[in-house]
Amino acid sequence: MRNELSLDRAAEWARGTDRPPIIASAAWKGGDGKSTLAYETAFQLGAVLGDFDWDKGGCTRSWGYRVEDRVRAPLLDAFEKGRTPAPVTGRRKPDLIPCHPDFGLNQPDPDAVADALEKWAVALGRPLMVDTHPGGCDSTYGALKAADVVLVPAVLAEKSLNALEGMLDELTDYPLLVIPHMVQNPPSTMFRKFKRITSQYGVPVGPVVDYYKWIPSRTLRVAICSEPVSKRALPYVRQIDRVAEAVINYGRA
Ligand SMILES: Nc1ncnc2c1ncn2[C@@H]1O[C@H](COP(=O)(O)OP(=O)(O)OP(=O)(O)O)[C@@H](O)[C@H]1O
Ligand SMILES: [Mg+2]
Repeated sequence: MRNELSLDRAAEWARGTDRPPIIASAAWKGGDGKSTLAYETAFQLGAVLGDFDWDKGGCTRSWGYRVEDRVRAPLLDAFEKGRTPAPVTGRRKPDLIPCHPDFGLNQPDPDAVADALEKWAVALGRPLMVDTHPGGCDSTYGALKAADVVLVPAVLAEKSLNALEGMLDELTDYPLLVIPHMVQNPPSTMFRKFKRITSQYGVPVGPVVDYYKWIPSRTLRVAICSEPVSKRALPYVRQIDRVAEAVINYGRA
């Protein structure tokens, strides 16, 4: 279910600013759901999804883009030649700027990445969502610098929360929006720890996205949020819609 309200607002948001918004999805711990959150929220916002994660488990592969079958490397070419990459398009999924396995060793420095993203957002004329490699690296820092909102999925578990604390400590002046992610009956100690960390750093907490047991084994490439939405996916789609709204309204309160 593509949320027309979100799309309208995103378009209005894009028109009302100097350039369309840039959103990043980042976390200092791997596997907490950055890519899934980026993919689905990008789809709901009508954003182009830029994949900055060169590992195989990222959005490029789950989108169905096989680097092995392609001669060109749009992301590497774009940085090398200083031009805006043309996204690949597909049905029921976000338009994608695919990553390349060599990107890890060929990341421009953070300022160059941030400058490029700002230019791309203007040239694309649409919101741009960037999914990042886990942890801090040049391309991630560049995406964070350019971003108007950084989605930070946080699992309510000991190691994830320790990683969250480290991230918030390092990135105090970035526009972070923490999303409690893959939430599944966490013990109250984890809730308390989460509340302590987020209030200590004064970081906004967005809508919760629950744990859905059918998501990890899903092999479909189409966005979960794309029509027709299956009955079991409806609660998930509603939660992603709330995340999309929170992104649009970020900083407006
Ligand atoms: N809401 C959810 N409920 C249940 N499982 C989920 C949910 N969101 C994502 N997952 C699953 O969690 C796993 C990790 O998700 P994902 O790949 O998005 O994380 P990531 O942070 O991008 O990982 P990496 O650090 O490797 O890039 C995947 O198997 C994915 O299908
Ligand atoms: Mg990922």
